[in-house]
Formats: sequence, structure tokens, C-alpha cells
Amino acid sequence: MEKTINRLTGLLAGAALLGLVTPAAHAADTLKVGLMLPATGTYAKLGNAITNGFKLYVDENGGKIGGVAVEYAVVDDESDPAKATENANKLVKRDEVDVLVGTVHSGVAMAMAKVARGTKTLMIVPNAGADELTGPLCAPNIFRTSFTNWQPSYAMGPVLLDKGVKKVVTLTWKYSAGLQAIEGFKESFTAGGGEIVKELTLPFPNTEFQPYLTEIASLKPDAVFVFFAGGGAVKLAKDYAAAGLKDSIPLYGSGFLTDGTLDAMGGAGEGLQTTLHYADGLDNAKDKAFRAGYQKAYGMAPDVYAVQGYDAAQLLAAGLSAVSGKVDDRKGMIAAMEAAQIDSPRGTFSMSAAHNPVQDIYLREGKGSANPVVSVAAKALADPARGCRMK
Ligand code: PHB
Repeated sequence: MEKTINRLTGLLAGAALLGLVTPAAHAADTLKVGLMLPATGTYAKLGNAITNGFKLYVDENGGKIGGVAVEYAVVDDESDPAKATENANKLVKRDEVDVLVGTVHSGVAMAMAKVARGTKTLMIVPNAGADELTGPLCAPNIFRTSFTNWQPSYAMGPVLLDKGVKKVVTLTWKYSAGLQAIEGFKESFTAGGGEIVKELTLPFPNTEFQPYLTEIASLKPDAVFVFFAGGGAVKLAKDYAAAGLKDSIPLYGSGFLTDGTLDAMGGAGEGLQTTLHYADGLDNAKDKAFRAGYQKAYGMAPDVYAVQGYDAAQLLAAGLSAVSGKVDDRKGMIAAMEAAQIDSPRGTFSMSAAHNPVQDIYLREGKGSANPVVSVAAKALADPARGCRMK
């Protein structure tokens, strides 16, 4: 119904251009949000946390974002890039969403971004780190409230150099998130004199780690750096400990290794140091309120994915509030989103010119169920956004 009204409004706007009626961007009845996230597979828990975070903000604001009532259309993307274009098109063309929110997996998000660019649909990425989304594929209508794959890993290079680590073996899934995370680490680690002894990869989402652990044991590097997340991260940490490597060759990673996964690791994550744009026990009022609200609503502690979902809603609110809820005032919304200072549970962040958060990266250490802060590994770190030409 609302869409029919929107179409009529479009006709009226056309008539206005012809001088037939006075143009006026109107406040929409609803904001239709297309949530394209994984509900199944190794990243299912991550998708659920993003949904919870997004809905927490909406529920805290009486079911509204920027004063506009929210309606949802939902798709399980299964973290499957082969189904991504069709899934994104379903939301844009069948459900006629005003904004696409998704997703977790970099490859799926890349396909979504192509649909968003082609149809000029507003898109907010609440996780996927694909460097291209705010690099060569950057666009006025694409924003991210999470990170680039480069960001958290780049911050780990100097941390390991400071510890005297010289030779590192890397291990990850062979798809863009893993490969770009390793590249980010490698860039800062080798620039400071570190050496990557070997780069090991396995296909996503395989978790048969044994042959790689055997190779690591024989290579005897000073440390291992990995990118894994979700169910795969749990299995890796457990297998690493069971292989007897945890005490002899320290394991490091971007913080996805231990965020939302420590309980399932059953002790294998204890003491693991990681770098990420969120941590437990941050000393800011927003985080305290967010954590209390999340615990109350869902009966569990939030993680970085929940924060990114919450902030996707906050970013939309910044855009919509600035245009008094006029969903059709795209230019005004985008300008306000670009200028927004997001009061995030991670600490306040701003948007880079490429529409990616400029944010602090924390060094954290696994303790029980939490990842408390050890130090700030990189202050206000901006992705280099190589190849972004914002049109
Ligand atoms: C990604 O595919 O970009 C990705 C997935 C899971 C994470 C982080 C990045 O935790």
C-alpha cells in the first residue's frame, strides 16, 4: 500500500517538475528495511547478532528510525555468493525496500553492492569487510558501519613487532575477507621488518585444520596470525590447543576469532590476543547502556556484530532525522550520514570520505567469556580506501 502511495508520489513529483504542482519531499509512512543476513551456516550466529542489534535500536525508539516507522523484509543469504544477486534483487524489486542492510560475508556483500549501485538503492553494510566496498566499488549510496578487512589486521603488525615477534605463519579461509585481512597484517608487519614465513589457506568454510597445524608445528614460527570467524573460529582455536601448539607458538588474529565465540571454545580462547574495533568493558556511557539494553532484550551479552547492527540503525537515524523523516530526500540523507558522528558502543566514530568508519582499534585478550581491552593498538585508524572515486 505504502509503495503504491510512493509511486503516486513519484508521479506527483514528476508533475511538480513540469510545474503542475508544488514540489515537497514528504515524510514517508514507513521505512522499509531489507535485512539480508545469514540465518544458517557458519555465520548464522553473526547474522542473528546484527539483526538483534538493529532491532534493539528500533525498539528503543518506539519502532521507528528518525521518526519513521520501520517495516522489515528478511532474506537468509546463507553466506552463499552464488545466491546473492538473486536474493538482493528479491528485496529491491519484489519487496521494494528503501534500504538494504547486509551482510556478513564479503563475497555476498560485493554482489549486493553491485545490485545497490545498479538500482541506486541505499545500502548499509553492518559487517562484511571487503576492501572494495569502500574502495573501487565505493558509491554515494553505499555506507558501512563495521570495518574494512584491512583495518583490524593492519593494527596487529606493530603489536607483534613490539613483542619481538619476527617470523609469522598466516592461516585463513581462501576468500576475500581472509586474504585481505592477511594482506593488512602483512603490510604493517613487513614494513616494520617482520617476515611472513608461509601463507596457508583452506577453502571457505572448511574446518579440517589438521594438516595445516602439522605444517605449523614443523615450521616453528615465532607466532601464527589468522582470520577466522563464527563456527570456524571456534573449531580452529580448539584444534590449535588440542594439537599442543597454544603454549609453544602463540596464536593471534583479528578479533573475529574470539568475539562471540569464547564460550563455545570452552577455554581454548583463554589468553588469545586479538585486534578489533570493539572490546568488552569499554569505559563509555553508551556502551554501558547498550550492553544493559541488549542483555535485557535478548538474555545474553552483545558482541561486535550486535554493535555494528545497532550502529547501522543509528546511521540511518542520523540521515532521516536531518531530513525530518523524508525518505525520498536522498541527497539530504546522504549528506547527513556522511557528516554523522556516531555515538557507538565502540566509542564515537566518523565516516571517511569513502563511507567507512574512522575508528580506534583495540588490543584485547580472551578472559573467560569476554575480550577486555589491553590497550589501544591504533587510534582513529582510517582505511586507505585505495581506488575509491566517489561520483
Ligand atoms: C567477511 O566475510 O567480510 C567477514 C565475515 C565474518 C567476520 C568478518 C568479516 O567476522
